[in-house]
Amino acid sequence: MTSGQWWIVALSEQLAPGKTLAVVCDGVQVALFRSAAGEAFALEDRCPHRRVLLSPGQVRPGGLQCPYHGWTFDGASGRCTDIPNLRRDEKIPPAAARAYPVAELNGFIHVHTGAGDMRGTLPGAAYRAAGREFTGSAVAAIAFPDYLDVMLDGPECLLDFPGVTITDFFIGDPRRDGGHLVLDRGAVWKGRGPGPAFVRDHPLLVRTRVPLAGGDVVVELLDASEQPLVTLLVAASANRRGTTSLVWRGFAHARSHPGPPGWRLRRLAGAAPFTVRADIDGRAIAALEAAPSRERRDQLEDVA
Ligand code: FES
Repeated sequence: MTSGQWWIVALSEQLAPGKTLAVVCDGVQVALFRSAAGEAFALEDRCPHRRVLLSPGQVRPGGLQCPYHGWTFDGASGRCTDIPNLRRDEKIPPAAARAYPVAELNGFIHVHTGAGDMRGTLPGAAYRAAGREFTGSAVAAIAFPDYLDVMLDGPECLLDFPGVTITDFFIGDPRRDGGHLVLDRGAVWKGRGPGPAFVRDHPLLVRTRVPLAGGDVVVELLDASEQPLVTLLVAASANRRGTTSLVWRGFAHARSHPGPPGWRLRRLAGAAPFTVRADIDGRAIAALEAAPSRERRDQLEDVA
């Protein structure tokens, strides 16, 4: 677990009132639940009584009820609020599940882990959908730091814009923008011209914005005048056993560049303008040059 920061752990629509959701964020198992009134809470996914998972439990007026012996834990404080069959002369013991601060914004549920500063910007704060959204979540079989590195070294291994080929051609060097490293790559429409290896003028750019700390990756497909066609926020976080939790929201901009007929037809048919890959090709990743991510690792050392 890191020293503490905000992470996106789920989409708002994944957590209905009265329901629970098990997630792993920053390597920690978390039981999310939403009260009947609509407020989201996060508790460590372990009952302090006998350490069973809390996430299969029931949402009660007093909090989340453990599925084993039925103790209930308050979402905000983690305190035990109810124990079934307690005798009149018995008191509720001072048992508490670990509670994590929760903030919900722009369709993302954020959880703050660790003891670090809570004033930092929420990773989903800058995201504003301006078109029909496409969303999802997955667990990818790649370690979290490698996921961020591959977003710089070979984003085509992790996502796809149907009808577009992302090339190996960098438009400039990685540049620092606040807490992120930003890199532009050339891209071309599929089936147009002589193929990406021979293209000198790229009609498209793929801009990847990768955090130095945290997991909010923003990827944009831009036209040659740098007007966005597609915007996508992929929130990544360390899952268990060397895997990565992913949650994403993205959209094609309504005033999108017309593009070739295939692109326009896909937009008209309501097809997703991007795919986030959960089934990652290890061979393709192993073959990538590590140049841009080396810059990220260097800057990370400077920040540390
Ligand atoms: S294990 Fe949760 S109440 Fe006993």
